[in-house]
Amino acid sequence: MERSNPLPFLMFKIGQVEVTGKVVLAPMAGVTSYAYRVFMAPFGVSLSVTEMISDCGIIYGNEETLRYLPQKGDPRPIALQLFGGETENLVKAVEKIEAMADVDYDILDLNLGCPVPKVTRNNGGSAWLKNEEHLLDMLRAVVKASHKPVSVKIRLGWDDDSINFRQLMPKIEAVGVKMIALHFRTTKQLYGGKARYELGQNLRDIINIPLVISGDIFTLDDALKAMEMTKADAVMVARGSMGNPHLVKQIDHYYKTGEILGPVTLKDQIEHLRVFANLLVKEKGEKTAISNLRGIASHFLSGFPHTKQFRIKISQEMTRLSDLNHILDEIGDSNLF
Ligand SMILES: Cc1cc2nc3c(=O)[nH]c(=O)nc-3n(C[C@H](O)[C@H](O)[C@H](O)COP(=O)(O)O)c2cc1C
Repeated sequence: MERSNPLPFLMFKIGQVEVTGKVVLAPMAGVTSYAYRVFMAPFGVSLSVTEMISDCGIIYGNEETLRYLPQKGDPRPIALQLFGGETENLVKAVEKIEAMADVDYDILDLNLGCPVPKVTRNNGGSAWLKNEEHLLDMLRAVVKASHKPVSVKIRLGWDDDSINFRQLMPKIEAVGVKMIALHFRTTKQLYGGKARYELGQNLRDIINIPLVISGDIFTLDDALKAMEMTKADAVMVARGSMGNPHLVKQIDHYYKTGEILGPVTLKDQIEHLRVFANLLVKEKGEKTAISNLRGIASHFLSGFPHTKQFRIKISQEMTRLSDLNHILDEIGDSNLF
């Protein structure tokens, strides 16, 4: 597959922040912690985003919340994503973060897309999309308070009867937001159904700030089709990155060279998994890291023939990092590659 000259459009700016590439690592609560961001960056991530961070957690100095903040050693540029349901608290949280001498980041991102009832019941996440005036007032206040460029992550709308992203996007730009990321699902869709890129034809033309698109990016072809349809500046890789960092590499490499990389090998996947597991243990401690890895580690092996028994072992028998290393050694000894 050859496509025309992707190179001239490689760089875009969010305010004064330069983003040199086409792949943004999506925020995923419970997944894209510091270790995940550090692990993924070398594959070709051009912008990373933290997990969503509670404004009230920041205001009250909640210890758990503070761990979600960007850290020294985080890949740059990085966006810090806040969520909350009240303008006053969002502004207070921004002021508090800006006063923290040891926290550095490039972009302040607002979560206006989370569909989880615990968040939307308190008017946070995608609940903001329901009331345009209230949303724009909040954005004006946050843009004023923040010394970093402000971006937002939105959905198509609340449900099929209130799809309002096209109306909202120019208004969001007009109040000073510097980048819009759009997840092509409604809130009611949660993470199911299909991302509806057909609603986003030439969407980039309706705003002058960068557009980043999100939803169902599982292959290079998914990314290219969505980018062509929307003319977006970059694509967010979310669930598709879990156990498949090579997807980021394929997309990044394509836009930088015009070449299509072949599939990853099992041997490389095992190496990637070892690196990620070590980073996660370092960040979270062995017990928590292993519990997280039970969910994600087997994704690194899926799609490779004859690895089912090892995937089962990982999910059922792994209690320590040494168990994982042992299982991965066994695969190495089994002549599967
Ligand atoms: C486990 C999980 C956690 C997520 N957490 C966040 C979050 O904290 N902030 C946010 O804006 N989006 C969050 N999302 C949404 C993703 O960033 C992305 O927009 C969505 O998964 C669609 O992309 P995909 O279909 O390629 O996975 C999350 C998604 C998943 C699956």
